Amino acid sequence: MFKLAVLPGDGIGQEVTEHALKVLTAVKTKYDLALTYRLGLIGGKAIDEIGDPFPQETQELVAQSDAVFLGAVGGPKWDSPEKKVRPEQGLLAIRKALRLYANLRPVQCWPQLIEQSPFKKEKIEGVNLLIVRELTGGAYFGARGTEIKNGERKAFDTIEYSAEEIRRLVKVAFKLAGQRRKKLTSVDKANILETSRLWRKIVLEEAANYPEITLNHLYVDNCAMQLCLNPGQFDVLATENTFGDILSDQASVLGGSLGMLPSASIGDGPALYEPVHGSAPDIAGQNKANPLAAILSVAMMLRISLSCFEAALAIEKAVGRVLEQGLRTADIWAPGCIRVGTSALVDAVIKELN
Ligand code: IPM
Ligand code: MG
Repeated sequence: MFKLAVLPGDGIGQEVTEHALKVLTAVKTKYDLALTYRLGLIGGKAIDEIGDPFPQETQELVAQSDAVFLGAVGGPKWDSPEKKVRPEQGLLAIRKALRLYANLRPVQCWPQLIEQSPFKKEKIEGVNLLIVRELTGGAYFGARGTEIKNGERKAFDTIEYSAEEIRRLVKVAFKLAGQRRKKLTSVDKANILETSRLWRKIVLEEAANYPEITLNHLYVDNCAMQLCLNPGQFDVLATENTFGDILSDQASVLGGSLGMLPSASIGDGPALYEPVHGSAPDIAGQNKANPLAAILSVAMMLRISLSCFEAALAIEKAVGRVLEQGLRTADIWAPGCIRVGTSALVDAVIKELN
């Protein structure tokens, strides 16, 4: 029996998770999957109820699970700079606890959404790339602090990477490139950062083990520009934590909306699946959120953690057909399309699945 921990979190995390579970239940029945799930607290909701963004109960729940589904965390309620405990700490803590070092963020240009893209059609047609972001190192986990020196307020964050942290991530990226179009772009800032120079060395060492992969290196600033100028050149991109955070939001525009972007975070134990978008508190609870990133994250889970390729593909195809019908939440709406709420879009996906 496959055990799933479900952590809806905050804001639209609650509703997109609820809807993703409906799709999972439909798929479970159709493909006769042996799967159970249990709900847990994370983020702001966990702070409110227990005083800890990643409480003990949730730590135990995820440790006993085969995979985790997470909605989103954060919101203005817990945002003030004076607050010592923040929802985002829950997310970082679960990434660290499960050693989820490789964050996979696929971005594809949906032909159904191409007309409304801020990019020219011919630039983004056929774009299908995968960002492999390191997730448990770098500035997110380095030493940080504030101090007053000679009456001046100062703050610092540090970026640190060990060779092994880089190597295990890079291996994942090379392997995934091998299953795709066999092209890997390593993104760094080796003209400035020492961590990037080590990164590049390790990438070059590993490249010797993957002769079938075409490798190139880009500085992160250039990569940001190339993602706009010629995104079709990319297959797999491998990069460190902060660069991957920024580049994946940027790349999401190529896919139509951040609301379309699923993700998987993998380590040596249970993997975690979550939509890339945040908790969007401004639209929470209004039936406005795009549920497709969460639904596509379920598809990633079925493929990676359960090896249910058929079910994963069925979800992705159902999403494609619903977009084809012109159904759209606000973030992907364009003139001539039918504007629907979250639940109507999910119902349409489920109908297509059945
Ligand atoms: C993401 C998010 C998180 C991050 C935040 C919510 C901590 O932006 O998953 O990309 O910065 O990693
Ligand atoms: Mg981000």
